[in-house]
Amino acid sequence: MANHGPPKLLFGAKQIEQRVHALGYNITHYARQHGLTDLLVLGTLKGAFIFLADLVRHIHYPHTIDFLIVDSYEGQESTGLVRWRHTPNVAILGRDVILVEDIVDSGVTLKGVCGYIKARKPKSLNVCTMLHKNKAIGPLPRWIGFGIPDNFVVGYGLDLDEQYRHLPYIGVLNDGV
Ligand code: IMP
Ligand code: MG
Repeated sequence: MANHGPPKLLFGAKQIEQRVHALGYNITHYARQHGLTDLLVLGTLKGAFIFLADLVRHIHYPHTIDFLIVDSYEGQESTGLVRWRHTPNVAILGRDVILVEDIVDSGVTLKGVCGYIKARKPKSLNVCTMLHKNKAIGPLPRWIGFGIPDNFVVGYGLDLDEQYRHLPYIGVLNDGV
C-alpha cells in the first residue's frame, strides 16, 4: 500500500456542517412545495453514513430511512463494475425517493443505483450527494454539497481501503514518496 501523509484539509467540520444544514433546508423546502406524501431517504453505505445521519436531522419533514450497499472501488481505482452487497429492504414502488450519496466520481455507481431504483417504479427519484467530481457522467444531482476537482478525498465517511472514515473533515490524500 502507498505511503500517505495526513490528508490535506479541503472542507473543515464547520464548513461541512453549514453546507449540510443548507441542503437539509433545501430538501425540506422541496418536500413541502411538492406536498410529498411518502418520502423515503435511501443512503448508500458505507460512504454516506455520516452525511446521511447529519442531513436527516435537518430535514424537517416526515420520512423513513433505509440503506443499500454497493461498492466499485479497490484502493483509489474504480473497477467500473457496481457490485451489490445489500439491496434496500423497503418497497420503492410509488414512493418519493431521495438517494443520498457520499460522492459521485465517474458517475458509474450512481447510474447503476438509479437504474435499480427506477426499475422499481418510484413516484419520484432525486439525488443528493455530498461531493461531486467535475468529470462525472450523467445528469447532475438535484442537491450537491460541494463540487470538487478530480482528487482522491477521504474523511466524513469516505475511505481509502476502510481507513479515514471517522475524520470530521474532508481532506485530499497525497501519495507519499
Ligand atoms: P463512481 O462510480 O466512480 O462515481 O464512484 C462512486 C463511489 O466510489 C463512491 O460512492 C465512493 O465509495 C468511491 N469513491 C469515488 N471517489 C472517491 C474518493 O475520492 N474518495 C473516496 N471514495 C471515492
Ligand atoms: Mg468507498
